[in-house]
Amino acid sequence: MLAIVTKFLLIALCFYRCSASNVKLSSARYYPRYHLAPPYGWMNDPNGFCEFKNEYHLFYQYNPESAEEPGIAHWGHAKSSDLFHWEHMPIALYPDQSFDKTGVFSGSALIENNTMYLFYTGNVNFPNQYPEREQRQAMAISTDGVHIQKYEGNPILKGDDRQPHIRDPKVWKHGHTYYMVLGNSLNNHTVGRVLLYTSKDLTSWTEASILGESDGSMGYMWECPDFFELGGKWVLLFSPQGLEPRGDKYKNLYQTGYIVGDFDYKSNLFTPLTEFVELDHGHDFYATQTLLDHRGKRVVVAWFDMWENEYPEQKDGFTGQITLPRYLYLTRDNRLIQKPVRQISNIRGKKLYSGKAKANNTVKLDDNAAEIRVVSAKLRNFELLIESNNTVSISYDYRKGKVTLDRGGEDAIRRTNWRPSGKLYWQIFIDASSIEVFCGDGEITFSSRFFPTGIVTIRVGEDSQADDLTVFQLKRSVVVPEQ
Ligand SMILES: *[C@@H]1O[C@H](CO)[C@@H](O)[C@H](O)[C@H]1NC(C)=O
Ligand SMILES: *[C@@H]1O[C@H](CO)[C@@H](O)[C@H](O)[C@H]1NC(C)=O
Ligand SMILES: *[C@@H]1O[C@H](CO)[C@@H](O)[C@H](O)[C@H]1NC(C)=O
Ligand SMILES: *[C@@H]1O[C@H](CO)[C@@H](O)[C@H](O)[C@H]1NC(C)=O
Repeated sequence: MLAIVTKFLLIALCFYRCSASNVKLSSARYYPRYHLAPPYGWMNDPNGFCEFKNEYHLFYQYNPESAEEPGIAHWGHAKSSDLFHWEHMPIALYPDQSFDKTGVFSGSALIENNTMYLFYTGNVNFPNQYPEREQRQAMAISTDGVHIQKYEGNPILKGDDRQPHIRDPKVWKHGHTYYMVLGNSLNNHTVGRVLLYTSKDLTSWTEASILGESDGSMGYMWECPDFFELGGKWVLLFSPQGLEPRGDKYKNLYQTGYIVGDFDYKSNLFTPLTEFVELDHGHDFYATQTLLDHRGKRVVVAWFDMWENEYPEQKDGFTGQITLPRYLYLTRDNRLIQKPVRQISNIRGKKLYSGKAKANNTVKLDDNAAEIRVVSAKLRNFELLIESNNTVSISYDYRKGKVTLDRGGEDAIRRTNWRPSGKLYWQIFIDASSIEVFCGDGEITFSSRFFPTGIVTIRVGEDSQADDLTVFQLKRSVVVPEQ
């Protein structure tokens, strides 16, 4: 009897879920041409980024009910053969268990024996209580990359003594041992840190070490930790909350950045060699997720937004998108550099402009999407304007050695130190409502949303000249949902 009632409830619940959503795209003006965005509704953190049976899978925090709020997180799902042509898949994980009923929070994927293992945080809120929530780690399994089954022995890690903020599992395997990093907060939500756990079987986990911890100045919570070897060193990549702005640094509500160091699998200890460095300098970059691809390259994506922003695309029925996938490399001085993945060539279209360019030269973009490459002298200022009925300026001040992105409106400016090693070189990607700037070899990037009305034109700024300006059209690779 109980089983029948449960089954009926499940069917009713599914019917409700599958039909209740009255969110629909009402306009495609801000909908990306080649970045992954939800078909409708709300998207935040990327999750479970992996390569499985020759396809890339990307999951994400998803509210299918509304574009106005994150709501109760589900895992949305998309797959692609080249990281640009995305196909939306059925919702992967619903908040349907006692331990995840107020959110199937962020996590990662591990591929082994032709099986996809997904790890996530089950969140349960207890309003007006202390602690106000519980977060338990859970696993889900798929053999075909479409149907995803939660493990019946969930949760796999309760973390009772680490509650109530313990989340965002990232899992990998080394030798015969599985490793998991988790974001955590200590002392009543005042000290952020990253915990390392180990397991022999993926289902029972033991705390092995504390990989990193705030000294009091590094925020109250470290979210979305990732930990991987790169160029002979180890990178602890995470998203701290609670950093105070300092000069040009930490201007967004929350940050994403990294510490490079050494790691020893025998002691499970991490020895930092650098300070915390922001990975991106734009307005909208958070909650990174990486994968190691079949060619041995580390690929990173991030949520291309920030919490507590205004999201003009909400009016159109969707919120949020994922940044361009980028390769990560480590320089000899322990800095990460980022480069767009090589598959970007799959969407590169015709050349709209190529050659020298003087002040006020303009190029009208096709479909508000383009790749722009600028070469200019090392010892002169340069400015590029991205114009519709609002203007975004990207400029280089050679005397100060600074790059600035000014998107207008409130909180317009993002700026950081940069000096080109040779000539100034920028690679800039524009997509309907976003701008990504890669400076030099990718040692500095800016990722910022902007919301143009009408056709976008680029213009070389006053007192600027480009030795070379090349503008490529970028072709649509994501299907715009039915409106
Ligand atoms: C994968 O297969 C090997 C060999 O049968 C086994 O030892 C290992 O435990 C399997 N991995 C998982 C996650 O089940
Ligand atoms: C934790 O902090 C909150 C707000 O800062 C406070 O109200 C609460 O009493 C604290 N709880 C404990 C156990 O210290
Ligand atoms: C660029 O355009 C502005 C505004 O139209 C004008 O004042 C300026 O003289 C122009 N500069 C050059 C170098 O043509
Ligand atoms: C841009 O255009 C829209 C409508 O086309 C208008 O409402 C808005 O005021 C314009 N913004 C600026 C800065 O001109």
